[in-house]
Amino acid sequence: MKNILITGGTGLIGKQLSKKLQEKGYNVALLSRRPVKDSGFRVYTWNPDSGVIDPEAISMADYIIHLAGAGLGDSRWTEKRKKEILDSRIKTAGLILDKLKESGKRPEAFISASGSGYYGAITSETIHVETDDPAADFIGEVCRRWEEAAGKIESLGIRTVILRTGIVLSKSGGALQRMALPAKLGIGSPLGSGRQYVPWIHIDDLCGIYIKAIEDQSMTGAYNSAAPEHVSNSRFMVTVSKVMGRPFFFPAIPSFAFRILFGEMSSILLKGSRVSSEKIISSGYSFKYPDLRSALKSLL
Ligand SMILES: NC(=O)c1ccc[n+]([C@@H]2O[C@H](COP(=O)([O-])OP(=O)(O)OC[C@H]3O[C@@H](n4cnc5c(N)ncnc54)[C@H](OP(=O)(O)O)[C@@H]3O)[C@@H](O)[C@H]2O)c1
Repeated sequence: MKNILITGGTGLIGKQLSKKLQEKGYNVALLSRRPVKDSGFRVYTWNPDSGVIDPEAISMADYIIHLAGAGLGDSRWTEKRKKEILDSRIKTAGLILDKLKESGKRPEAFISASGSGYYGAITSETIHVETDDPAADFIGEVCRRWEEAAGKIESLGIRTVILRTGIVLSKSGGALQRMALPAKLGIGSPLGSGRQYVPWIHIDDLCGIYIKAIEDQSMTGAYNSAAPEHVSNSRFMVTVSKVMGRPFFFPAIPSFAFRILFGEMSSILLKGSRVSSEKIISSGYSFKYPDLRSALKSLL
């Protein structure tokens, strides 16, 4: 039985992924900043700020999945918060790198989250592919540096896979629950222009891609992890309202309202381009939920 260590495994993706991996017969352990009691999994602790990590966490790991990261949409992007967003992804990967070097341990693969924000908060018709350059904006920089940190682990000779993930749709929280709330209240409407694309993925598909990244040794490097159907924000919000059987209320909520409320962070709501899923499909992954309607029907 292979051992899988998941950093940030207590979060939205980690909770679901750890269950799916366990169902497939893997032995899963989580790496958390706190001693979690009720996860149902072995929990190792670390303190990324002071560079401390339970050595057993590293020595047991046949695979490491790196999900740790302060939420991008949880609070305004002050300079302090930006540092936290960066450090929680990059310093943590650096800590794992140091411990792998020190211990000589070489897991079979290191799989790291990244975001479709790699390509930038820009609204265009461009369909981004993995060879495109990262954007110069804040999230583009976060993703670039996150992926560079993963690249250092790859340089130890460890197969490394990076999943540039779109917005994860789940029953258990995250963006969908927040986006569905206005629809539930019967006041669903587009955000800003509504023309921005929303790269999205059903949590089951994302877990399927993580599992494939573990099991398919030919997978290496970056893969966009977003469903093949490209939808604008307007279309997304209409579909949410329709699936919930609620009216769709126009006009759109103006962009300036989001800018006042959320500052620079509003860019992740108000801008977005399309992301290609060709590479992951060509690698043999078949989406269970390729279209938004079927994904939402299973979740709402
Ligand atoms: N959900 C999405 O829509 C989405 C889309 C694209 C990319 N991603 C990326 O995928 C990863 C997992 O996403 P998620 O939705 O599962 O996130 P989540 O629910 O916010 O969980 C992330 C986990 O990271 C740990 N964490 C939080 N702040 C931290 C800090 N300052 N330092 C170290 N660890 C910290 C926490 O674990 P402990 O408290 O146990 O330490 C938390 O449970 C994230 O890196 C996220 O950016 C998510």
